[in-house]
Amino acid sequence: MEDALSAVDEMTPYQLLGGEGVVRWLCNRFYDIMDSEPAAAPLRAMHPADLAGSRQKLFMFLSGWLGGPSLYIEAFGHPRLRMRHLPFAIDEAARDQWMACMRTAVGELVVEDEVKDKLLAALYQTADFMRNT
Ligand code: HEM
Repeated sequence: MEDALSAVDEMTPYQLLGGEGVVRWLCNRFYDIMDSEPAAAPLRAMHPADLAGSRQKLFMFLSGWLGGPSLYIEAFGHPRLRMRHLPFAIDEAARDQWMACMRTAVGELVVEDEVKDKLLAALYQTADFMRNT
């Protein structure tokens, strides 16, 4: 019989974080921070005035990326994330602003520190890969 620990081992990051509601909360919090944090103003300026679409797309992408429903792929096809970011000049400063907003938002989640650390490390890899300038 499967014990509780091996069941946790088999959980996806999506499940470990708490599922749809938590992933959606994280995306909204991330953009609220970007929208209000003065240090993120250059990053905010790259985005549309209305962040509703950005919030929804990040939620749909992270859902699949974390092992939950592949909402983004179902709606828009292959993410080709790096290509979709080419219109924006992403340098180390932009990457660091993005990560700073995400670090604050992830820090507010009520999950194990180990889950937060792994999530932030994986997000950093992705954010660093977006650099094009
Ligand atoms: C490294 C710094 C980053 C910058 C400066 C940046 C900037 C942007 C900008 C300006 C947009 C367009 C917003 C819109 O059309 O509403 C965008 C879209 C998007 N970003 Fe990023 N981003 C970064 C990193 C990331 C990372 C790490 C992820 C995923 C983990 C991500 C996921 C997305 C997604 C899914 C979209 C929507 C793409 C589409 O369908 O058009 N971004 N990003």
